Amino acid sequence: MGEVIFCVTNDSSVGLYNEVVGDIYHSTYGAYSESYEKFLKASGFLSYIKEHDKIRILDICYGIGYNTKVALDEILKLNKVLDTKIDALEYDKSLVNISPFITHQKIDNVINKFLICNTNYHSQMSFWNILAYFYKTRGILHINWANLTLLCPLIRKFYSALCRFQHNIYYNYIPFRTKMGLKTPKLNKTTVTFHFDDARQSILKLQSKYNFIFLDAFTPKKLPTLWSYEFFKELYKLLDEDGVLVTYSSSAAVRGAMLEAGFFVGTSFDANKKVIGTIAAKKKNLIKNELSEFDLGLIKTRAGIFYRDENLNATEANLTARRDDEVRNSDRITSSRYKKDYAKKI
Ligand SMILES: C[S@@+](CC[C@H](N)C(=O)[O-])C[C@H]1O[C@@H](n2cnc3c(N)ncnc32)[C@H](O)[C@@H]1O
Repeated sequence: MGEVIFCVTNDSSVGLYNEVVGDIYHSTYGAYSESYEKFLKASGFLSYIKEHDKIRILDICYGIGYNTKVALDEILKLNKVLDTKIDALEYDKSLVNISPFITHQKIDNVINKFLICNTNYHSQMSFWNILAYFYKTRGILHINWANLTLLCPLIRKFYSALCRFQHNIYYNYIPFRTKMGLKTPKLNKTTVTFHFDDARQSILKLQSKYNFIFLDAFTPKKLPTLWSYEFFKELYKLLDEDGVLVTYSSSAAVRGAMLEAGFFVGTSFDANKKVIGTIAAKKKNLIKNELSEFDLGLIKTRAGIFYRDENLNATEANLTARRDDEVRNSDRITSSRYKKDYAKKI
């Protein structure tokens, strides 16, 4: 618990750092912006939600929920009536519990209220537990106190009654200011289900086919558990024929594992043509930017040797030791040799 540190990222959204893993949960360039750019924009999510009436999302590594919350925020803006089901995987329950109390000016607070009142997790947390968590992790400055009061059963009951009231015929007679202030409950076609376990186990129990899979694990070098070939093989089964898997990682080992699992793989770029991650799909035409000759070559070097986890339960140390061994004994060229040769060639 104590290993999480709160920080403010460059777009003013709150991010986290994990002292034990030694990795950030969110890019310093902006927790909100990272979700919007690297996951939603890069995957074609924004145009998808305008053109469809149903969506299934798998959010792997929910953390404090930026990917889910930013996705719901866009759905509210672009297609309120979209039938939305999200499966969110996360093994650190405390992060999921504090997620609705961390707000951002670009994310409609209705989403946080929805998460508190309409998902099952309010039953597991109390006002005092949440407060204690923020206090212990020195994140107390980042709490949205108004949302926190919703943990009080009486206030939550009142809020729900208010929402129901706004839905009835008297809604037309409520003054505009009150309507704006209180906000109508707009997420009535949305379900968010949390799976609190190691994502490698959770995915084996899922039944849906997903239009979008967001993979937002810690970097492969820091925590390789969710980047193995076997994990991608399972994700392949869960992805809809027309779906896409998106991640911020552009590591050769990750791309190698995706290709081996049967995906078509491409690069995602931001507006300035900077690489911001990887897209994988079952259909080639869903890949806008195919991997370059350089990237494909890199995957054939030692850097492209992927993690193996046959039973989906190896420890981080095992996964790393096994790959390190394979890299050491490999007759592939090193990535630095490859890069030098490639630079000479062009
Ligand atoms: C980079 S952070 C994700 C940030 C998150 N998407 C957000 O918006 O806050 C990685 C998350 O993966 C979770 N995690 C790491 N390994 C996991 C595993 N094997 N199963 C489930 N969750 C895992 C961590 O607890 C952490 O919250």
